[in-house]
Amino acid sequence: MSHNLELQRTRRKFLRMLAASPVLARSHLLSNSIANLLASGDVPEKGFLGWIENLQQQGSDVITSPDQALDVMDFEPLAKKVVPVAHWGYLETGVDDDATVRANHEGYSHIQIRSRRLIDVTNIDMSTTLFGIKWSSPILLSPIGAQKAFHSDGEVAVAKAARTKGNLMLLSGAATTSIEDAIGARGATVWQQLYPTNDWNVTRGIVKRAEAAGSQAVALTVDLQDGSNRETLFRAQRVDKRECSACHQGTYTGFARGRTGTIAAPAASGFAGFAARKPMFDGLDVSKVTNLYPANVNLDFVKRLRDAVTGKLLLKGIVTLEDAQLAVEHGVDGLIVSNHGGRGEETLRPTIESLPEVVKGASGRVPVIVDGGVRRGTDIFKALALGATAVGIGRPHCWGLGAFGQAGVEAVVEILHRELRTIMRQAGTTSIDKITRNYVVTHAG
Ligand SMILES: Cc1cc2nc3c(=O)[nH]c(=O)nc-3n(C[C@H](O)[C@H](O)[C@H](O)COP(=O)(O)O)c2cc1C
Repeated sequence: MSHNLELQRTRRKFLRMLAASPVLARSHLLSNSIANLLASGDVPEKGFLGWIENLQQQGSDVITSPDQALDVMDFEPLAKKVVPVAHWGYLETGVDDDATVRANHEGYSHIQIRSRRLIDVTNIDMSTTLFGIKWSSPILLSPIGAQKAFHSDGEVAVAKAARTKGNLMLLSGAATTSIEDAIGARGATVWQQLYPTNDWNVTRGIVKRAEAAGSQAVALTVDLQDGSNRETLFRAQRVDKRECSACHQGTYTGFARGRTGTIAAPAASGFAGFAARKPMFDGLDVSKVTNLYPANVNLDFVKRLRDAVTGKLLLKGIVTLEDAQLAVEHGVDGLIVSNHGGRGEETLRPTIESLPEVVKGASGRVPVIVDGGVRRGTDIFKALALGATAVGIGRPHCWGLGAFGQAGVEAVVEILHRELRTIMRQAGTTSIDKITRNYVVTHAG
Protein backbone atom coordinates (compact mmCIF):
# COMPACT_ATOMS: atom_id res chain seq x y z
CA MET A 1 0.00 0.00 0.00
CA SER A 2 1.31 3.46 -0.89
CA HIS A 3 2.37 5.75 1.91
CA ASN A 4 -0.35 8.21 0.92
CA LEU A 5 -3.08 5.61 1.07
CA GLU A 6 -1.82 4.43 4.43
CA LEU A 7 -2.03 7.99 5.76
CA GLN A 8 -5.57 8.34 4.44
CA ARG A 9 -6.65 5.17 6.22
CA THR A 10 -5.06 6.25 9.48
CA ARG A 11 -6.79 9.64 9.32
CA ARG A 12 -10.15 8.02 8.59
CA LYS A 13 -9.70 5.58 11.46
CA PHE A 14 -8.79 8.39 13.83
CA LEU A 15 -11.75 10.53 12.74
CA ARG A 16 -14.19 7.61 13.05
CA MET A 17 -12.96 7.02 16.58
CA LEU A 18 -13.43 10.69 17.44
CA ALA A 19 -16.85 10.81 15.82
CA ALA A 20 -18.02 8.14 18.25
CA SER A 21 -16.49 9.86 21.26
CA PRO A 22 -18.45 11.93 23.80
CA VAL A 23 -15.88 14.72 23.26
CA LEU A 24 -17.95 15.85 20.30
CA ALA A 25 -21.36 15.39 21.82
CA ARG A 26 -21.69 19.09 22.71
CA SER A 27 -20.60 20.50 19.37
CA HIS A 28 -22.96 20.15 16.43
CA LEU A 29 -20.49 22.03 14.29
CA LEU A 30 -17.67 19.58 14.90
CA SER A 31 -19.86 16.47 14.62
CA ASN A 32 -21.34 17.70 11.35
CA SER A 33 -17.99 18.58 9.84
CA ILE A 34 -16.48 15.25 10.86
CA ALA A 35 -19.46 13.46 9.26
CA ASN A 36 -18.89 15.46 6.06
CA LEU A 37 -15.20 14.64 6.02
CA LEU A 38 -15.86 10.94 6.46
CA ALA A 39 -18.59 10.97 3.82
CA SER A 40 -16.31 12.60 1.28
CA GLY A 41 -14.25 9.44 0.85
CA ASP A 42 -10.74 10.87 0.80
CA VAL A 43 -9.55 12.62 3.88
CA PRO A 44 -7.09 15.16 2.45
CA GLU A 45 -4.36 16.46 4.71
CA LYS A 46 -5.66 20.02 4.54
CA GLY A 47 -9.19 19.04 5.58
CA PHE A 48 -7.89 16.82 8.32
CA LEU A 49 -5.57 19.45 9.82
CA GLY A 50 -8.27 22.12 9.53
CA TRP A 51 -10.66 19.95 11.48
CA ILE A 52 -8.06 19.28 14.20
CA GLU A 53 -7.56 23.05 14.51
CA ASN A 54 -11.30 23.50 15.03
CA LEU A 55 -11.22 20.85 17.71
CA GLN A 56 -8.39 22.66 19.47
CA GLN A 57 -10.35 25.88 19.31
CA GLN A 58 -13.30 24.17 20.89
CA GLY A 59 -11.07 23.27 23.82
CA SER A 60 -10.44 26.97 24.30
CA ASP A 61 -14.04 27.82 23.51
CA VAL A 62 -14.42 29.13 27.02
CA ILE A 63 -14.80 32.81 27.63
CA THR A 64 -11.91 34.57 29.31
CA SER A 65 -13.67 37.80 30.30
CA PRO A 66 -17.29 38.61 31.20
CA ASP A 67 -17.76 40.86 28.16
CA GLN A 68 -17.19 37.91 25.80
CA ALA A 69 -20.38 36.22 26.98
CA LEU A 70 -23.25 36.37 24.53
CA ASP A 71 -25.75 34.76 26.87
CA VAL A 72 -25.81 33.55 30.46
CA MET A 73 -25.05 29.96 29.41
CA ASP A 74 -21.60 31.13 28.27
CA PHE A 75 -20.52 31.38 31.93
CA GLU A 76 -21.25 27.74 32.68
CA PRO A 77 -18.23 26.06 30.99
CA LEU A 78 -15.71 28.36 32.65
CA ALA A 79 -17.39 28.04 36.05
CA LYS A 80 -17.31 24.28 35.63
CA LYS A 81 -13.57 24.44 34.97
CA VAL A 82 -12.71 26.55 38.00
CA VAL A 83 -15.16 25.34 40.65
CA PRO A 84 -14.07 22.18 42.56
CA VAL A 85 -15.81 19.07 41.27
CA ALA A 86 -17.88 18.35 44.40
CA HIS A 87 -18.94 22.00 44.66
CA TRP A 88 -19.91 21.90 40.99
CA GLY A 89 -21.98 18.82 41.72
CA TYR A 90 -23.70 20.76 44.51
CA LEU A 91 -24.56 23.58 42.10
CA GLU A 92 -25.77 21.51 39.19
CA THR A 93 -27.52 18.63 40.89
CA GLY A 94 -31.23 18.03 40.71
CA VAL A 95 -32.77 14.85 42.11
CA ASP A 96 -32.97 11.33 40.66
CA ASP A 97 -32.31 11.81 36.91
CA ASP A 98 -32.19 15.65 37.06
CA ALA A 99 -35.20 15.57 34.73
CA THR A 100 -37.07 18.31 36.61
CA VAL A 101 -34.04 20.59 36.26
CA ARG A 102 -34.29 20.14 32.51
CA ALA A 103 -38.10 20.36 32.51
CA ASN A 104 -37.96 23.75 34.26
CA HIS A 105 -36.02 25.22 31.37
CA GLU A 106 -37.82 23.34 28.61
CA GLY A 107 -41.16 24.50 29.97
CA TYR A 108 -40.47 27.93 28.52
CA SER A 109 -40.07 26.56 25.01
CA HIS A 110 -43.75 25.54 24.97
CA ILE A 111 -44.88 29.14 25.28
CA GLN A 112 -44.92 31.50 22.33
CA ILE A 113 -44.86 35.28 22.34
CA ARG A 114 -47.51 37.36 20.54
CA SER A 115 -45.76 40.54 19.47
CA ARG A 116 -47.70 43.75 18.85
CA ARG A 117 -46.56 46.33 16.29
CA LEU A 118 -47.15 50.03 15.65
CA ILE A 119 -46.36 51.03 19.22
CA ASP A 120 -43.77 53.67 20.14
CA VAL A 121 -41.18 51.62 22.03
CA THR A 122 -38.50 54.31 22.28
CA ASN A 123 -38.59 54.23 26.07
CA ILE A 124 -38.65 50.93 27.91
CA ASP A 125 -39.17 50.97 31.68
CA MET A 126 -38.25 47.70 33.38
CA SER A 127 -38.56 48.99 36.94
CA THR A 128 -40.61 46.87 39.32
CA THR A 129 -42.04 47.68 42.74
CA LEU A 130 -42.30 45.02 45.42
CA PHE A 131 -43.70 45.84 48.87
CA GLY A 132 -43.21 49.56 48.20
CA ILE A 133 -39.58 49.35 47.08
CA LYS A 134 -38.65 50.07 43.47
CA TRP A 135 -36.05 47.80 41.84
CA SER A 136 -34.37 48.30 38.46
CA SER A 137 -36.08 45.24 36.99
CA PRO A 138 -38.28 42.25 37.91
CA ILE A 139 -35.15 40.07 38.06
CA LEU A 140 -34.14 38.96 41.53
CA LEU A 141 -31.30 36.77 42.71
CA SER A 142 -32.72 33.59 44.23
CA PRO A 143 -31.22 32.32 47.49
CA ILE A 144 -28.36 29.89 46.94
CA GLY A 145 -26.61 28.28 49.90
CA ALA A 146 -22.85 28.34 50.52
CA GLN A 147 -21.85 30.66 47.69
CA LYS A 148 -18.25 30.70 48.89
CA ALA A 149 -18.14 27.19 47.42
CA PHE A 150 -18.11 28.87 43.99
CA HIS A 151 -15.93 31.92 44.65
CA SER A 152 -14.11 33.12 47.73
CA ASP A 153 -16.13 36.39 47.76
CA GLY A 154 -19.37 34.37 47.86
CA GLU A 155 -22.56 36.22 48.77
CA VAL A 156 -20.76 39.55 49.20
CA ALA A 157 -19.86 39.52 45.50
CA VAL A 158 -23.49 38.73 44.65
CA ALA A 159 -24.73 41.53 46.92
CA LYS A 160 -22.32 44.04 45.36
CA ALA A 161 -23.41 43.02 41.87
CA ALA A 162 -27.06 43.37 42.94
CA ARG A 163 -26.18 46.86 44.17
CA THR A 164 -24.52 47.88 40.87
CA LYS A 165 -27.42 46.54 38.83
CA GLY A 166 -30.23 47.57 41.19
CA ASN A 167 -31.73 44.12 41.85
CA LEU A 168 -33.29 42.46 44.85
CA MET A 169 -31.24 39.69 46.46
CA LEU A 170 -32.42 36.87 48.69
CA LEU A 171 -29.85 35.52 51.13
CA SER A 172 -29.95 31.80 51.83
CA GLY A 173 -30.38 30.64 55.41
CA ALA A 174 -27.41 28.39 54.61
CA ALA A 175 -25.30 31.27 53.29
CA THR A 176 -21.60 31.60 53.99
CA THR A 177 -22.11 35.33 54.67
CA SER A 178 -24.20 36.97 57.38
CA ILE A 179 -27.29 39.05 56.65
CA GLU A 180 -25.51 42.08 58.14
CA ASP A 181 -22.62 41.74 55.68
CA ALA A 182 -24.94 41.04 52.77
CA ILE A 183 -27.07 44.11 53.50
CA GLY A 184 -23.90 46.15 54.02
CA ALA A 185 -22.57 45.10 50.60
CA ARG A 186 -25.97 45.53 48.92
CA GLY A 187 -26.54 48.96 50.47
CA ALA A 188 -30.27 48.19 50.66
CA THR A 189 -32.53 45.56 52.09
CA VAL A 190 -31.83 41.90 51.33
CA TRP A 191 -34.59 39.36 51.97
CA GLN A 192 -33.76 36.49 54.29
CA GLN A 193 -34.58 32.97 53.15
CA LEU A 194 -35.35 30.67 56.06
CA TYR A 195 -35.33 26.92 56.56
CA PRO A 196 -37.77 25.83 59.27
CA THR A 197 -35.29 23.77 61.42
CA ASN A 198 -36.60 21.50 64.15
CA ASP A 199 -35.77 24.02 66.91
CA TRP A 200 -38.16 26.97 67.08
CA ASN A 201 -35.75 29.05 69.18
CA VAL A 202 -33.14 28.83 66.45
CA THR A 203 -35.65 29.61 63.69
CA ARG A 204 -37.05 32.57 65.60
CA GLY A 205 -33.53 33.76 66.43
CA ILE A 206 -32.65 33.93 62.73
CA VAL A 207 -35.85 35.85 61.95
CA LYS A 208 -35.20 38.41 64.68
CA ARG A 209 -31.59 38.85 63.66
CA ALA A 210 -32.50 39.35 59.99
CA GLU A 211 -35.18 41.89 60.85
CA ALA A 212 -32.81 43.79 63.14
CA ALA A 213 -30.28 43.91 60.29
CA GLY A 214 -32.84 45.52 57.97
CA SER A 215 -34.29 42.58 56.09
CA GLN A 216 -37.68 43.62 54.74
CA ALA A 217 -38.97 40.10 54.23
CA VAL A 218 -38.46 36.52 55.29
CA ALA A 219 -39.08 33.73 52.77
CA LEU A 220 -39.78 30.37 54.37
CA THR A 221 -38.78 27.52 52.07
CA VAL A 222 -41.34 24.72 52.21
CA ASP A 223 -40.28 22.45 49.37
CA LEU A 224 -37.74 20.18 51.07
CA GLN A 225 -39.28 17.49 53.28
CA ASP A 226 -36.51 15.87 55.26
CA GLY A 227 -34.29 15.01 52.33
CA SER A 228 -33.85 14.61 48.60
CA ASN A 229 -31.98 12.23 46.33
CA ARG A 230 -29.25 14.34 44.76
CA GLU A 231 -27.43 11.73 42.73
CA THR A 232 -25.42 14.12 40.58
CA LEU A 233 -24.00 15.60 43.78
CA PHE A 234 -23.26 12.19 45.30
CA ARG A 235 -21.44 11.08 42.15
CA ALA A 236 -19.38 14.28 42.08
CA GLN A 237 -18.46 13.83 45.74
CA ARG A 238 -17.17 10.34 44.93
CA VAL A 239 -14.75 11.53 42.28
CA ASP A 240 -13.56 14.65 44.10
CA LYS A 241 -10.60 13.34 46.03
CA ARG A 242 -9.87 16.61 47.84
CA GLU A 243 -9.97 16.58 51.58
CA CYS A 244 -12.91 18.83 52.59
CA SER A 245 -11.34 19.67 55.93
CA ALA A 246 -8.46 21.37 54.14
CA CYS A 247 -10.85 24.22 53.32
CA HIS A 248 -13.71 23.86 55.78
CA GLN A 249 -14.77 21.92 58.82
CA GLY A 250 -16.02 18.50 57.78
CA THR A 251 -18.39 17.86 54.89
CA TYR A 252 -21.85 19.34 55.08
CA THR A 253 -23.74 16.49 56.68
CA GLY A 254 -26.86 17.85 55.03
CA PHE A 255 -25.39 16.79 51.68
CA ALA A 256 -24.23 13.41 52.89
CA ARG A 257 -25.98 10.27 51.83
CA GLY A 258 -28.35 9.16 54.54
CA ARG A 259 -29.62 5.68 55.31
CA THR A 260 -32.34 6.01 52.73
CA GLY A 261 -29.94 7.25 50.10
CA THR A 262 -31.38 10.73 50.40
CA ILE A 263 -29.88 13.87 51.78
CA ALA A 264 -30.18 13.05 55.43
CA ALA A 265 -31.20 15.03 58.42
CA PRO A 266 -27.81 16.02 59.81
CA ALA A 267 -26.83 14.32 63.05
CA ALA A 268 -26.63 16.72 66.00
CA SER A 269 -22.84 16.66 66.04
CA GLY A 270 -22.82 17.12 62.26
CA PHE A 271 -25.08 20.11 62.44
CA ALA A 272 -22.71 21.97 64.76
CA GLY A 273 -19.98 21.55 62.13
CA PHE A 274 -22.34 22.75 59.41
CA ALA A 275 -23.56 25.71 61.47
CA ALA A 276 -20.00 26.75 62.27
CA ARG A 277 -19.60 27.72 58.61
CA LYS A 278 -23.01 29.39 58.35
CA PRO A 279 -22.92 32.82 60.01
CA MET A 280 -26.70 33.01 60.43
CA PHE A 281 -26.37 30.39 63.20
CA ASP A 282 -23.66 32.34 65.06
CA GLY A 283 -24.57 32.98 68.67
CA LEU A 284 -27.52 30.56 68.59
CA ASP A 285 -27.60 27.35 70.59
CA VAL A 286 -27.83 24.77 67.81
CA SER A 287 -27.30 21.76 70.07
CA LYS A 288 -30.92 20.65 69.58
CA VAL A 289 -31.00 21.14 65.81
CA THR A 290 -31.01 17.85 63.98
CA ASN A 291 -32.72 18.93 60.79
CA LEU A 292 -32.82 22.08 58.68
CA TYR A 293 -36.00 20.95 56.96
CA PRO A 294 -38.03 18.67 59.23
CA ALA A 295 -40.90 16.62 57.82
CA ASN A 296 -43.60 18.02 60.13
CA VAL A 297 -43.86 21.58 58.81
CA ASN A 298 -47.55 22.39 58.40
CA LEU A 299 -49.95 25.34 58.58
CA ASP A 300 -49.53 25.56 62.36
CA PHE A 301 -45.88 26.30 61.77
CA VAL A 302 -46.82 28.98 59.23
CA LYS A 303 -49.22 30.57 61.75
CA ARG A 304 -46.54 30.58 64.42
CA LEU A 305 -44.03 32.11 62.04
CA ARG A 306 -46.57 34.66 60.86
CA ASP A 307 -46.88 35.87 64.47
CA ALA A 308 -43.11 36.03 64.87
CA VAL A 309 -42.34 37.91 61.64
CA THR A 310 -43.00 41.65 61.89
CA GLY A 311 -42.05 42.35 58.27
CA LYS A 312 -43.26 40.56 55.18
CA LEU A 313 -43.55 36.79 55.11
CA LEU A 314 -43.36 34.77 51.89
CA LEU A 315 -43.55 31.05 51.26
CA LYS A 316 -41.04 29.67 48.76
CA GLY A 317 -41.84 26.40 47.01
CA ILE A 318 -45.60 26.75 46.40
CA VAL A 319 -46.72 25.04 43.18
CA THR A 320 -50.48 24.53 43.51
CA LEU A 321 -53.66 26.59 43.68
CA GLU A 322 -54.73 24.92 46.96
CA ASP A 323 -51.52 25.81 48.79
CA ALA A 324 -51.57 29.32 47.37
CA GLN A 325 -55.09 29.85 48.73
CA LEU A 326 -54.22 28.41 52.15
CA ALA A 327 -51.07 30.50 52.41
CA VAL A 328 -52.86 33.74 51.63
CA GLU A 329 -55.71 32.86 54.01
CA HIS A 330 -53.08 32.40 56.73
CA GLY A 331 -51.69 35.87 56.29
CA VAL A 332 -48.72 35.18 54.02
CA ASP A 333 -47.66 38.32 52.11
CA GLY A 334 -46.16 36.75 49.01
CA LEU A 335 -45.59 33.45 47.20
CA ILE A 336 -42.58 32.10 45.39
CA VAL A 337 -43.44 29.46 42.81
CA SER A 338 -40.42 27.21 42.96
CA ASN A 339 -39.39 23.56 42.97
CA HIS A 340 -35.97 24.43 44.39
CA GLY A 341 -34.48 24.35 40.92
CA GLY A 342 -35.56 20.70 40.51
CA ARG A 343 -33.81 19.71 43.77
CA GLY A 344 -36.81 18.71 45.89
CA GLU A 345 -38.70 15.87 44.20
CA GLU A 346 -38.69 14.67 40.59
CA THR A 347 -42.10 15.98 39.53
CA LEU A 348 -41.18 16.68 35.90
CA ARG A 349 -43.43 19.71 36.23
CA PRO A 350 -41.83 22.99 35.21
CA THR A 351 -42.52 25.91 37.53
CA ILE A 352 -43.72 27.98 34.58
CA GLU A 353 -46.59 25.48 34.27
CA SER A 354 -47.39 25.75 37.98
CA LEU A 355 -47.38 29.54 37.86
CA PRO A 356 -50.88 30.16 36.41
CA GLU A 357 -52.65 28.10 39.09
CA VAL A 358 -50.70 29.77 41.89
CA VAL A 359 -51.54 33.17 40.41
CA LYS A 360 -55.18 32.08 40.37
CA GLY A 361 -54.97 30.96 44.00
CA ALA A 362 -53.41 34.26 45.03
CA SER A 363 -56.08 36.10 43.01
CA GLY A 364 -54.27 39.42 43.06
CA ARG A 365 -54.02 39.59 46.85
CA VAL A 366 -50.25 39.07 47.08
CA PRO A 367 -47.29 39.21 44.69
CA VAL A 368 -46.24 35.95 43.04
CA ILE A 369 -42.60 35.37 42.18
CA VAL A 370 -41.39 32.43 40.09
CA ASP A 371 -37.98 30.80 39.64
CA GLY A 372 -36.55 27.70 38.00
CA GLY A 373 -34.99 27.30 34.56
CA VAL A 374 -35.02 31.00 33.67
CA ARG A 375 -32.14 31.53 31.25
CA ARG A 376 -33.33 34.18 28.78
CA GLY A 377 -35.02 37.57 28.75
CA THR A 378 -37.82 35.93 26.80
CA ASP A 379 -38.32 33.43 29.68
CA ILE A 380 -38.72 36.38 32.06
CA PHE A 381 -41.17 38.03 29.66
CA LYS A 382 -43.27 34.84 29.49
CA ALA A 383 -43.35 34.47 33.27
CA LEU A 384 -44.47 38.08 33.66
CA ALA A 385 -47.14 37.56 31.01
CA LEU A 386 -48.46 34.57 32.94
CA GLY A 387 -48.88 36.64 36.08
CA ALA A 388 -45.52 36.72 37.89
CA THR A 389 -44.64 39.95 39.65
CA ALA A 390 -40.93 39.15 39.58
CA VAL A 391 -38.65 36.34 38.42
CA GLY A 392 -35.78 34.65 40.27
CA ILE A 393 -32.47 33.51 38.82
CA GLY A 394 -30.58 30.72 40.61
CA ARG A 395 -27.76 28.79 38.94
CA PRO A 396 -26.92 31.35 36.22
CA HIS A 397 -25.79 33.97 38.72
CA CYS A 398 -23.61 31.32 40.37
CA TRP A 399 -22.04 30.49 37.00
CA GLY A 400 -21.13 34.17 36.72
CA LEU A 401 -19.89 34.16 40.32
CA GLY A 402 -17.76 31.05 39.86
CA ALA A 403 -16.30 32.33 36.60
CA PHE A 404 -15.50 35.95 37.48
CA GLY A 405 -16.78 36.83 40.96
CA GLN A 406 -18.76 40.08 41.23
CA ALA A 407 -18.04 41.04 37.60
CA GLY A 408 -19.51 37.74 36.43
CA VAL A 409 -22.72 38.18 38.41
CA GLU A 410 -23.04 41.72 37.07
CA ALA A 411 -22.59 40.46 33.53
CA VAL A 412 -25.23 37.74 33.98
CA VAL A 413 -27.74 40.28 35.25
CA GLU A 414 -26.80 42.76 32.53
CA ILE A 415 -27.33 40.17 29.78
CA LEU A 416 -30.77 39.28 31.16
CA HIS A 417 -31.64 42.98 31.44
CA ARG A 418 -30.59 43.51 27.84
CA GLU A 419 -32.54 40.49 26.62
CA LEU A 420 -35.65 41.51 28.55
CA ARG A 421 -35.43 45.05 27.21
CA THR A 422 -35.08 43.68 23.67
CA ILE A 423 -38.14 41.44 23.87
CA MET A 424 -40.19 44.16 25.57
CA ARG A 425 -39.36 46.45 22.66
CA GLN A 426 -39.97 43.78 20.03
CA ALA A 427 -43.29 42.73 21.56
CA GLY A 428 -44.49 46.32 21.99
CA THR A 429 -44.59 46.48 25.78
CA THR A 430 -43.05 49.63 27.22
CA SER A 431 -43.36 48.81 30.93
CA ILE A 432 -43.62 45.69 33.08
CA ASP A 433 -47.34 46.18 33.84
CA LYS A 434 -48.07 46.14 30.10
CA ILE A 435 -46.78 42.55 29.77
CA THR A 436 -50.08 40.71 30.11
CA ARG A 437 -51.59 37.33 29.26
CA ASN A 438 -52.41 38.70 25.79
CA TYR A 439 -48.74 38.58 24.86
CA VAL A 440 -48.31 34.82 25.07
CA VAL A 441 -49.85 31.69 23.67
CA THR A 442 -49.56 28.45 25.61
CA HIS A 443 -50.42 24.96 24.42
CA ALA A 444 -53.41 25.24 26.77
CA GLY A 445 -54.62 28.19 24.70
C1 LIG B 1 -26.70 25.28 44.59
C2 LIG B 1 -28.10 25.68 44.98
C3 LIG B 1 -28.35 26.02 46.29
C4 LIG B 1 -29.62 26.42 46.67
N1 LIG B 1 -29.84 26.79 47.97
C5 LIG B 1 -31.06 27.21 48.32
C6 LIG B 1 -31.30 27.66 49.64
O1 LIG B 1 -30.40 27.69 50.48
N2 LIG B 1 -32.56 28.03 49.96
C7 LIG B 1 -33.59 28.01 49.05
O2 LIG B 1 -34.71 28.36 49.38
N3 LIG B 1 -33.36 27.63 47.77
C8 LIG B 1 -32.14 27.24 47.40
N4 LIG B 1 -31.92 26.86 46.10
C9 LIG B 1 -33.00 26.99 45.11
C10 LIG B 1 -32.92 28.38 44.47
O3 LIG B 1 -33.28 29.39 45.38
C11 LIG B 1 -33.87 28.51 43.27
O4 LIG B 1 -35.15 28.12 43.65
C12 LIG B 1 -33.41 27.68 42.06
O5 LIG B 1 -32.01 27.68 41.95
C13 LIG B 1 -34.03 28.24 40.78
O6 LIG B 1 -33.72 27.43 39.70
P1 LIG B 1 -32.53 27.75 38.67
O7 LIG B 1 -31.27 27.37 39.35
O8 LIG B 1 -32.84 26.85 37.53
O9 LIG B 1 -32.58 29.21 38.30
C14 LIG B 1 -30.66 26.45 45.72
C15 LIG B 1 -30.40 26.11 44.39
C16 LIG B 1 -29.13 25.73 44.02
C17 LIG B 1 -28.86 25.41 42.59
